[in-house]
Amino acid sequence: MLPVPRTAIIVVAAGSGTRLSGGAPKAFVGIDSRSILRHALDGVFAAAPAQVVVVAPAGFEGDAESELLAAAADRAELGRVVTGGGTRQESVAAGLAALWGDVEVVLVHDAARALTPPAVIDAIAGAVTRESGVIPTLPVVDTLKRVTDREVLTAVDRSELAAAQTPQGFPRALLEAAYASARESGIEYTDDAALFAAAGHVVTRIDGSERGFKITTPSDLERARLLLGRRDAVVTPAITGPAVPLPLVGLGTDAHAFGGEGVLWLAGLEWPGEQPLSGHSDGDAVAHAIVDALLGAAGLGDIGEHFGTSHPEYAGAHADVFLARTREILTEAGYAIGNVSVQFQANRPRFSSRRAEAQQSLSTALGGAPVSVTATTTDGLGFPGRGEGVAVTAVALIHRI
Ligand code: CTP
Ligand code: MG
Repeated sequence: MLPVPRTAIIVVAAGSGTRLSGGAPKAFVGIDSRSILRHALDGVFAAAPAQVVVVAPAGFEGDAESELLAAAADRAELGRVVTGGGTRQESVAAGLAALWGDVEVVLVHDAARALTPPAVIDAIAGAVTRESGVIPTLPVVDTLKRVTDREVLTAVDRSELAAAQTPQGFPRALLEAAYASARESGIEYTDDAALFAAAGHVVTRIDGSERGFKITTPSDLERARLLLGRRDAVVTPAITGPAVPLPLVGLGTDAHAFGGEGVLWLAGLEWPGEQPLSGHSDGDAVAHAIVDALLGAAGLGDIGEHFGTSHPEYAGAHADVFLARTREILTEAGYAIGNVSVQFQANRPRFSSRRAEAQQSLSTALGGAPVSVTATTTDGLGFPGRGEGVAVTAVALIHRI
């Protein structure tokens, strides 16, 4: 059993959202695949454990319950839904009536401030004292004027002003008493801090967050959507994968010794008069290196797994068969080939006169992806230099379809 939290968060979500005109009570309008209320509750449950009271519009208690259960995950026992009233103040009062006995600190939060960072919620909860409330504020950036319908009267000194956000935090006993007085007086206050201050108590401030803005109009909803989109775009690829998928690179090498009977097959071409290479299939080390580079880029195993001796159907097969099948394997896994670059090391055959032909044949087998072939000798060094065989390195770039 978790200890009973000393803090409660009342999430007021009972408004109709007249200015948003979203076709449903504002809390149930979607920002992305999640509603305004769900985003607000995701933030609340990411903060330190607290009792969570969701104040829902009459008739929407079940919908609010579903959102609460989804956001709470394994902490559902902390949450409950109550029905709101005709004004925000009445809705908060309904939330207050549902608090657990052990709760000492109460935060009142607008569901409409759906993207409020959990750190602001924690900071407010931590700044409430026995006697004072606390609210998050932002500096006012616009120049302010006192006006009538038509006329600009005077400038207002904005250094004395701040924009108030939620959650607003209070010591429970004083907030309940202040609400009781407000009910008696019949006065509607603009926010909980005003109601609390009217009862003679101190309210302090901490810095709010730009993300804590209230979704009021369609353009606010648009802003929330943009903010969520941008957040996805800046997460590091290592954690969740980039928003725009990066291409994937793969490396393949192969070596074959000269030997055996017949004709040389290399880079998908037949080379009459050249010494053949030995190996399962035709020994085309260029094609084999490309296959490994492509499979490696996609993380789909290697040539031995797909075409090795346990696949006798490929014995004696040429490059076009290997490459076409490799492309098929990649396509089935959702990848397209960007390009392939392959380098061949050997004294023979001489590649330069047939480079274009080799590139064309390899590219055709890969469905038209560009393939470049370079060739070098090794200055007499190693097995290629001694004329014992060929060594090939290939690099392939692929991307998700
Ligand atoms: N709220 C509430 N009960 C009400 C009125 C408002 O719980 N009777 C809540 C809203 O759901 C919102 C917060 O108080 O989360 C701030 O109110 P506001 O932004 O004005 O929302 P609405 O009243 O829904 O919007 P509008 O004024 O455009 O109708
Ligand atoms: Mg309203």
